[in-house]
Amino acid sequence: MITVTKEQSTYLIKHEALKTWVQEVAAHCTPENIRWCDGSQEEYDELCETLVSKGTFIRLNPEKRPNSFACFSDPSDVARVEDRTYICSKRKEDAGPTNNWIEPRLMKQTLEGLLKGCMKGRTMYVIPFSMGPVGSEIAQIGIEITDSEYVVVNMHIMTRAGKRVMDALGEDGEFVKCLHTVGAPLQPGQQDAKWPTNPTTKYIVHFPEDRSIVSYGSGYGGNALLGKKCFALRIASVMGNEENWMAEHMLLLGVESPDGKKDYVAAAFPSACGKTNFAMLIPPADLKGWKVTTVGDDIAWIKPGKDGKLYAINPEAGYFGVAPGTNYKTNPNAMEAISKNTIFTNVAITQEGDVWWEGMTKEIPQNMIDWRGEKFDPASGKPAAHPNSRFTAPAYQCPSIDPEWENPNGVPVSAFVFGGRRSTTVPLVYQSSNWAYGVYLAATMGSETTAAAFGEVGKVRRDPFAMLPFCGYHIGDYFNHWLQFGRSIPAPPRIFGVNWFRKDKDGNFIWPGFSDNMRILKWIVLKIRGESNAVESPIGWMPTYNDIDWSGLDFTPEQFESIMDIDREEWKAELLQHAELFERMYDKLPKEFIFMRELLLSSLWRSPAKWSLEPERIDDDH
Ligand code: OXD
Ligand code: MN
Repeated sequence: MITVTKEQSTYLIKHEALKTWVQEVAAHCTPENIRWCDGSQEEYDELCETLVSKGTFIRLNPEKRPNSFACFSDPSDVARVEDRTYICSKRKEDAGPTNNWIEPRLMKQTLEGLLKGCMKGRTMYVIPFSMGPVGSEIAQIGIEITDSEYVVVNMHIMTRAGKRVMDALGEDGEFVKCLHTVGAPLQPGQQDAKWPTNPTTKYIVHFPEDRSIVSYGSGYGGNALLGKKCFALRIASVMGNEENWMAEHMLLLGVESPDGKKDYVAAAFPSACGKTNFAMLIPPADLKGWKVTTVGDDIAWIKPGKDGKLYAINPEAGYFGVAPGTNYKTNPNAMEAISKNTIFTNVAITQEGDVWWEGMTKEIPQNMIDWRGEKFDPASGKPAAHPNSRFTAPAYQCPSIDPEWENPNGVPVSAFVFGGRRSTTVPLVYQSSNWAYGVYLAATMGSETTAAAFGEVGKVRRDPFAMLPFCGYHIGDYFNHWLQFGRSIPAPPRIFGVNWFRKDKDGNFIWPGFSDNMRILKWIVLKIRGESNAVESPIGWMPTYNDIDWSGLDFTPEQFESIMDIDREEWKAELLQHAELFERMYDKLPKEFIFMRELLLSSLWRSPAKWSLEPERIDDDH
């Protein structure tokens, strides 16, 4: 028999459809208890204690890391599982060529079998949550049902969760159904695992027409915190396509110039390109008076306003950031944000009861416990922290948080920036000459894979708009949605491409990156204000050496040239890859893309073998 814990009596659930759904799920999954989450601090503290008593959480030294916890996942459950992720739209062609698809009725049958009795011996939590400030017109409500306390406490940080959301939902408000289970029922008397998971079966399934998500078998990150990638990107992208808005895998930042003028920039980068660092950038001291503020580090929801501008919110309330590589040099703001009230997953633990990961400090602390829970042996060649280890921290703890980050109306977006990790071919920065070409630039972007993300290193993976694993419908329809969006607003934001990762012939990064990215951001912002210059290149507008503020940085015109030049043969190969990408989505490819590609080919055809910003250095063989 299901017992309802005393917390349920604090709620009077007036929403009949919600009540029915929760009852149906409980009857099928047969948990021991049901608990409706109220989102309070007491609830958070209590569940963290529960996790400590189960051995899942380790309380960190309160003097070093107040009110913070670390945990180790099962080694089989360390990342998003793209090959187990499905978009089960009614028609296969609506999921498109970049998503796994199974006929929804068949998938529901499979899931029904798996879900039967899956919560046995566990408590089923019902978490009402809002993506975006509660009550904002851009925000959306979801209800996550889960049998994982780890998920509940993470959702407390990553979303606005609890009673206030139930109040906003009212008696008949719409919500996205998010059902999650670790897929590890407990037999009577069975000892629970520290990280319950299903080691063999995982499903992350989206039913776009039903506005529902079912996640089975994983307790980790984007697989389990369903507000993030599943709802805020995959389901929300479908909603946006139908309702004329956009759900994007973008950070959002504010740039303030010394005269107090401010512009907001939304930027998309594939995973493992330093998005969180860019979102929290601290400008070099030599660029006096320039300031960057953070609205979001991963996702932006964007809607046209009545004034014809685009307005964006960060639907999340916390950061689920990659830990390795984060330190006081690369990202001091993130280090401050995670200094307290933070959950760490799969990092190493020091003998003082603090956390550590590769790249945090030069010196490796002695006597650590690694992410597998074993004594760390630096000679083993294995990392102490898992490459995809994470911190979950409240957004308001970030020192660079933008004062408008909770504005229910969002912030106006002046520019979009797209970038991948490319050691060759793509220049440091360029501007598309118009909206349609900007959409083409974003649609064809690629990024070299890193060991952390995909195992195989250095292969260019096309990742349109950094949305490849996150677009909940046909990617060709998504491109058309973007094109249409630009047509429907009077002065669409300008679109730029960047590449911080180009290497010289010895394999070293040419660009220092991190805070120096501000120099490029400054050019971008002044360019959209009509206050900086550019020249026309075969692939778009580009700054010359003198258009960039180099104060305090020793970067020569030759270096700049080597990171900006356009190699005709490399670009021809690039365009062949664009054609390959287009061939995959032939049925819905925007006609504009065919012509854009032809135009690019034509301008490259007449360009020298190496197009350069310094014409006198060109060796023209045409
Ligand atoms: C993420 C990702 O975790 O993009 O944010 O993979
Ligand atoms: Mn992301």
